[in-house]
Amino acid sequence: MIIHSSDQVSRARFLKRFPVPKNFGVPAESRIVQGRTWPAPEGARRVKVFKIYRYDPERGTNPRIDTFHVDLDDCGPMVLDALIWIKNKVDSTLTFRRSCREGVCGSCAMNMDGTNWLACTRFISDLDAPAVIYPLANMRIIKDLVPDLTHVFAQYEMIEPWLHVKTPDPEKERLQSAEERKQLDGYYECILCFCCTSGCPSHWWNGNRFLGPATLLQAWRWLTDSRDEGSEERLDRLEDPFRLYRCHTILNCTRTCPKGLNPGKAIAEEKKAILERRS
Ligand code: SF4
Ligand code: SF4
Ligand code: FES
Repeated sequence: MIIHSSDQVSRARFLKRFPVPKNFGVPAESRIVQGRTWPAPEGARRVKVFKIYRYDPERGTNPRIDTFHVDLDDCGPMVLDALIWIKNKVDSTLTFRRSCREGVCGSCAMNMDGTNWLACTRFISDLDAPAVIYPLANMRIIKDLVPDLTHVFAQYEMIEPWLHVKTPDPEKERLQSAEERKQLDGYYECILCFCCTSGCPSHWWNGNRFLGPATLLQAWRWLTDSRDEGSEERLDRLEDPFRLYRCHTILNCTRTCPKGLNPGKAIAEEKKAILERRS
């Protein structure tokens, strides 16, 4: 006789009432499987466990989670230090991007314990035990922790992120008052790490047409620049039910920005500017 737990019974009842489509869930070849476990080096006294997403599309195998035991006494304090330690001392095939090591280039963005951030500015001590490291969500994966940014940079290109001028060039530079320059604060600091875009639910569902918070914040950076003379065309490009208006002010973007910026506010400014020019 089969004995059902009350959980199983209620699940069966639920599925009967709300049958899920056959293709519901993740296809078998995309399921993440248990990977290899690498032990701590002999004699290590302070060890932190890292569970890291591994995937190589060229090998045709499932993504997997490898487990690494990192000797904290032999490694710097940041998550990026741990990844470099693993690559140098345990598994040289672990693949990730990094350049500046200072939170400036934006290339080491990844998901750590469920939050998008920069690996070089996140302390290992702030992560859970074990620490769980994934690439940025909702991006194609080139390998391991390296997302393919082709699409999000193509969206960035659409806003023409450079100064548009119509008046003849002055003899020297185009000047800005201190007050005008201040208008760029909160926008010019964006390092295009795409933590925000990867964390935006509207971009998950409509990423082909919704520009996403990083690109929209950058769009406002140019709209608010006193030297720029292309505001009308810039707003024309944004005035579209998908490009701008798919933002539903969920503010995941603002919560996850490692530079403390507020893409949600930039998007609200753009909607307001479009309304104001209509009136
Ligand atoms: S506020 Fe808009 S852009 Fe930011 S996460 Fe929410 S929907 Fe995305
Ligand atoms: S707004 Fe913040 S999270 Fe988004 S790309 Fe710029 S720096 Fe990264
Ligand atoms: S390595 Fe440049 S931001 Fe982390």
